[in-house]
Amino acid sequence: MTSSDMDYLTVALPKGKLFEPAARILAKAGYTAQGLSENSRKLVIANEEKRIRFIITKTGDLPTYVEYGAADIGIIGKDVLLEENKDVYELLDLKFGYCRMMVAVPKELLKEKLSDYAHMRVATKYSATAERFFHSMGIQVEIIKLNGSIELAPMVGLAELIVDLVETGRTLRENNLIEVAEVHPATARLIANRVSFKVKFDRIHQLAEEIRAVLESGAAE
Ligand code: PRP
Repeated sequence: MTSSDMDYLTVALPKGKLFEPAARILAKAGYTAQGLSENSRKLVIANEEKRIRFIITKTGDLPTYVEYGAADIGIIGKDVLLEENKDVYELLDLKFGYCRMMVAVPKELLKEKLSDYAHMRVATKYSATAERFFHSMGIQVEIIKLNGSIELAPMVGLAELIVDLVETGRTLRENNLIEVAEVHPATARLIANRVSFKVKFDRIHQLAEEIRAVLESGAAE
């Protein structure tokens, strides 16, 4: 860590659905920077006065930046933390970004129980999560890793089942899919690098407390 790294607190924010609420809650706690927006092409935005630097990462890569200390802290969904399984501290449940990781199937393939899907194919972006879930249930399946638009896979015969995030349920409904099991619920979390949490304890602790105060005051909504 250089002395300039020591001066600054580096905060990782993910592109995508969590960016806006994450940037908003940080701003309410007094942490922001001019030009911080998901649509900006800038990947590093600093607030020199506050000695804070924001970096904007691909969602799935965020825990890696924090694990290696390229970012001191970050905001990311529990779904990504469970999938990536990186060595980071989880400091706070931020309560926003609620969604559920679900197993879903086309209506016409609906069966009585989960074990009836043994030996079928499961399309997902979350292959480690899906693998763990079916293994824990003692059901053998073939996992097919995709990068998005998972709901398409059963419609074109690539897989019988999917494991994916459900927020409003609209995507499942519009693609004729039914939920058959919940893998886990998820919300956004504040995470920290283990070394940063020790050497920058005062700043990180203060930030976490300020965010907690925003959450408790109800001003986060
Ligand atoms: C996510 C998820 C579902 C959808 C669920 O996809 O993978 O497809 O949102 O939301 P809903 O229940 O409100 O319809 P995302 O938009 O992140 O893109 P992706 O399909 O490329 O993963």
